[in-house]
This record gives sequence, C-alpha cells and structure tokens, in this order.
Amino acid sequence: MFTPENLRILQALSSQLLADLTNNRLAYSEQEMMDLQQVLRFHEYRYYVLNEPLISDGEYDRLFKALEACEQKNPTKITPDSPTQRVGSSLNGQFETVAHLVPMLSLDNSYNEADLIDFDRKAKGLVGLDSIDYSIEPKFDGASISLIYENNQLVRATTRGDGVAGDDITQNIKQIRSIPLSANFARYGLQTVEIRGEVIMNKKAFDGFNATLAASNLPPLANPRNAAAGALRMKDPREVAQRNLDAFLYHISYYTKLDDEAALHPAITTHSGMLDMLWDLGFRSPKKEKKAVTNIDAVVDYCLSFEAGRDDLPYEIDGMVIKVDNIALQEKMGMTSHHPRWAIAFKFKARQASTKLTSVEFQVGRTGAVTPVAKLQPVSVGGVTVSSISVHNEEYIKEKDLKIGDTVLIERAGDVIPQIVKSLAELRDGSEQSIVFPTHCPACNAPLSKEETEAVWRCNSNTCEAQVVEKIIHFVSKDALDIKSFGEANVRKFYELGLITDVPSIYSLDFERIGVLEGFGKKSIDNLQAALEASKKQPLYRLIYGLGIRFIGETTAKTLANAVDHLLDFATKTEADLLALEDVGVKVAKSIVDFFGDAQNIRLLQKLEALGLDLKNQKKAAPVGSTLSGQTFLFTGTLPTLKRSAAEQMAADLGGVIASGVSSKLNYLIVGEDAGSKLEKAKKINTIHIISEAEFIQLIESSKQ
Ligand code: IVH
Repeated sequence: MFTPENLRILQALSSQLLADLTNNRLAYSEQEMMDLQQVLRFHEYRYYVLNEPLISDGEYDRLFKALEACEQKNPTKITPDSPTQRVGSSLNGQFETVAHLVPMLSLDNSYNEADLIDFDRKAKGLVGLDSIDYSIEPKFDGASISLIYENNQLVRATTRGDGVAGDDITQNIKQIRSIPLSANFARYGLQTVEIRGEVIMNKKAFDGFNATLAASNLPPLANPRNAAAGALRMKDPREVAQRNLDAFLYHISYYTKLDDEAALHPAITTHSGMLDMLWDLGFRSPKKEKKAVTNIDAVVDYCLSFEAGRDDLPYEIDGMVIKVDNIALQEKMGMTSHHPRWAIAFKFKARQASTKLTSVEFQVGRTGAVTPVAKLQPVSVGGVTVSSISVHNEEYIKEKDLKIGDTVLIERAGDVIPQIVKSLAELRDGSEQSIVFPTHCPACNAPLSKEETEAVWRCNSNTCEAQVVEKIIHFVSKDALDIKSFGEANVRKFYELGLITDVPSIYSLDFERIGVLEGFGKKSIDNLQAALEASKKQPLYRLIYGLGIRFIGETTAKTLANAVDHLLDFATKTEADLLALEDVGVKVAKSIVDFFGDAQNIRLLQKLEALGLDLKNQKKAAPVGSTLSGQTFLFTGTLPTLKRSAAEQMAADLGGVIASGVSSKLNYLIVGEDAGSKLEKAKKINTIHIISEAEFIQLIESSKQ
C-alpha cells in the first residue's frame, strides 16, 4: 500500500505540515486539505494496522484538528473517504474478523488545564447547562478489547481492529483470569451487554517476563503495552496464560434489557454507576481509581494528582479519561465519526521519543561479556534525558534491524530502563551503516569467543583492564562489600591514576596522594578509610558475592557462605559436594569449581585475608567450638553499658538463641537496672543462671577462646 519511496515523501510532508502549523503558516487551502487527508490516512495505517506509529498522539491530533479546520472552510469539498468521516482503516486479518455491536471510537485528547476548561465549556454549551458532573478514571496503557456477554455468559472477545470490526480472540481472552467467564447481568435486568476495556500487563509481570526472556538470552520487550498487545495475537492460548495479563473494563457500549417494559436499573443511568455495577459483577473496573466530581476544577486537580503519582502505580497509564457522568446527557451530546463528544483523554507527558542512533560502543563487563551500547542524540523522554541505551547483543541488533544513522523510537516505561522500541527503517536515506560486532576485545584486544548456548561474546583474558575496573566497581558496590564513598567514579579515577590496580590494592591506598586530588578533603579521606575498615568485617556472603563469580547472585552467595567455615574450604569441594547444596545447580557448581581451581583466584583471596578481610564464616564457624551454641538468653532491665540490641547480637554471634520469655528452657537471664517481673519469675526456676552485664561480657569473652 505504501512503497518505501512513498513513506519517505509522506513522512516529509507530515513534518512540513506540523512545522507550518507550529509557525501559523497554514492557509487552510484546498491543497493543504488534501495533503492533510493523505498524511492522516498514512498515520492511521501506521497506528491501527501496523501498530507502528511514526508520530506521537499529540502530533496526530494537531494534524487531525487542522484537517477539521480546513474542511470547515471548504465544506463542499469534504469527501466520504476523509479521515474525519470514518473510523479507522483496514485489518491485518490473522484471526476471524467480527463486527462490533457499536463501533469502537477513539478519544479526543487534551494536554493541559486550558484544554479541559475548553472541553467543559463546549460540553455545557452542547446541552445548555451551567454545570456538568464528570467521572474521571485512568487511561490504561494496553490493548483495547471488546467483550460480549449474552444471558450472563461471555460469548465473544475481540480486538479493536479498525474500530468497526476486530479479530476474534475469545480463546486468548479466556486466559485472563480477572475476566469472568460468566457474570450475573440478569440481576441488573440486562440480556446482551458489550463491554470495552483494556488488556494490560502490570509492571511486575512485565519485569518478570523480561527476566525470563533474559534468562534464555532473549532480548527484552520495550514496554508492557507491546507485551499485552503481542500476547493477544498469539496462536497458542497457553502462551497467553504465561504472560500474566490483566484487564480493566471501563465502558458499556451496548446493552439490551431482559424485559423491555421494565424500568432501567439506576446503576445504568450514570457512568460511575456502571463502573460500580461491573465491579459488583466481578469485573476489574476502575471503581476505586475513578472519581465523580461536579466541576472542571476538580477534574483538573484529580488529573494532576494522578500524574504526580503515576510511577507508584503497579501498572502503566498514559493519562486520564474524563467522561460526562450522566448517560442521558452523553446520548444527547452524541459523537463525531472519530470520538464521543462526552469524553476526553487527558494525556500525560510522553515517554516515547524518536532520535538518531549516532554510534555503537562496545563495553566490557566484569565477566568479560561484551555489551553493545547505542549512543543517541540526547533526547528527553518523560523528563529524563537519554543519550545511550544498551542494545544487549548481536541477535538483538539483528532482530531490531538497527543501523548507525537510523532514527529510532525509544520508550521509558515507569522505572523501566529505556529501550529501543524499533528503528524507523522507512526513514533511511541510504547513508546508514551496519553495526559490525568486534572480533577482538575493544579494551585489551584479546580474541572474543562465544559459547554455543549463549548470545554473548566474551573476552576471556585475565589481564583485561576493562574487566579489572568493572570487578572493582562490583566489589565495592552496595550489595557486595558496600564500601561507601568509593563508588564507580572514584574507582575509575583511581585506576586511571594508577592508585589502584586490582581488588586487593583498594586496601593499600596511598591516602597522601589521594589527599592532593581535587575534591578530597580530610573528611572524605577519613570516610573512605573508615568505610574500607568496616568492609573487612562484612559477612562472608557479601565477599562471595563481591568476587563476581559467574552465576553467583546474592541468594546463592548466602547459601554458599553457610556451607563452609572458611572461604578457602571451597578449594577442596567437588561439583558433587556443591550440587548437594540447596538451589545449587550444575552451572553454579561448575562455576565455583572453576573459580577455586584457579591459582590466581586463590592468591587473590590469600592476599585479601592478609590485608585483614575476614574469610571465616563468623556465623557458622563460631558455634562449632563455642560453649554458648544453642544456649538461650534473655535480657531484662536497662544494661549499664551495652545497648540491648548489641548485647543480643553478641550472644547470637556465638550461636546463642534469644528467648522470648522466662521458662524452664531459659539458660541465662541478664539483669540490668529496674528489672521487673522477669527476674521474679526466673528466681523461681533454679536452672536459670541469673547474671549481670559484666558477667555476661565475661561469658562471651571466655567462650571465644
Ligand atoms: S473510553 C467511547 N476509557 O484509549 C469511549 N478508553 O485513545 C471509548 N483507553 O481506544 C473509550 N483507558 O483503548 C476509555 N478508561 C478508559 C480508557 C480508554 C484506556 C483507551 C481505549 C481507547 C483509547 C482512546
């Protein structure tokens, strides 16, 4: 339908028209009217048929409104095929196509307070009222669906399609557990009901889904909307089920009554009442999220407060929808061919933007994995400037068909790291260049290799500087040794200046040399020294995690720490020994054996121990020889020198157990000032040792020997 040449011309025309609009240069001529029609048809096709928009909703709206204005000036020239005269375009035809009972319209958009006030003014004018009640709810960012219930049973579910007819996706929709297969509409006197809603994937499900993709070395999806829309079109309903989709139902577009003569149920006379009814019947309607208000100022307040809290929601929304609450009024106001006049969307700041991919850098991680990072012309996405984005691996680049010089569409969804949605290949002019993956390490020039089961290329050199720096950054990081005030920037700086060369060297820093560096006063040096000292006493699992052994995350590190008395004990463990541990699989076992089988790593650990790091498992090692192992302790009253929590920790460190009350099972009651009933109770049980804080400290000290 649109040849590549055509696409470029239309995109250029679209940009020209938008620029003319911005600069007030439109004459609203007949020629411009035709141009606008053509451009809008093109964008509708991109959006509704291909699901690949080239412009933002806001830009589309501006063009649409310009066409409406042109047509108002030239009313005799309006043709029936103008985008203002119809709903949507053709279908992509994978599933059986079925007509909606009522066309699925779009919404008109607003972007600020003034737009909303204007909407209210027009609405009041249309019905001749001084004030209108509104119902406001989130605009869910997913894929729209239409459901039909007949005699309380779900009989069909369809996608939006071109607005007039959509794809029959009943089987897939049935996988969404929040959609009831039957609902008692009869209770409200209804027979056939058509409901509109949005299928969404909440942020957590989306992150989980992307994590499973990553585990199989597959690239992540860009946003929950794509994940939901893609899921609805899958051929195998079981796969749909795995995506943990959800749905909000927010509109009843059509109904018939069981008894024509019967009065309408009051719930059906307002939009907010219908949301309550849907909720009552077991649907996930935005009952709790909606708000019914009596004036437009309250609408504005609610929209803005929701926008401010947007990131805290468990799902993505891209705006709010404001609807006239009274259904009789809605009917009076009617609709254009494109949208109802009784509703408007309030769009939040866009989180999608397009920009140029200027180059690709290859970064070497601590395990030697080489990750391509796309450098972008800086662009603001939802208030955050993005200038580089990971493009994961070679396959991802191929799949997204990325080239240097491409215009790419990027998106930031909630807290999700920005992703490239796609490259806009149709905007290429031939000067774009393929991204060539290096064969050698960009940092040390050692040849790269790739395991058959992996998508990642790796540098296997032990001396690769890039890996050394990344290893140090990981070692000092928060979840590892947590060496505060070190940080990534300082690691890089110190390494460049030759102040550190490997992990152990961070414990023999030349503070005099650091003292002369800019930004390093006495206070920051003191902090750094204290942080280094504190790190030597961190629990063993943090050190294990900090070593950055492949496949060893924090949880596995904890399991491993508990399995030995001293870190170097791993040098004598076999894969079979390790496999016996909980949650340790073949990959992890092999990785540990490899790590401890390498003499260089053993020397590194010995060096760290010599520098004062604790390689012993304090928790596990202590009770073995400790006379306090398994003994129970209880504290009462105010201790003269120790804090209660510190004293409890001292006992626990030696394998002691803190009791919850006085009983015959208690071994020691440590008594401070103003001891109360516990002491009285303990006196009656003669197996309990009643001791002072000083005696307790003595006990602790002697059990350490
Ligand atoms: S009402 C006739 N309410 O936004 C009224 N739409 O841009 C039809 N959407 O096609 C729509 N949340 O897919 C409505 N609470 C909500 C919505 C909502 C998301 C979607 C819907 C619609 C699109 C319009």
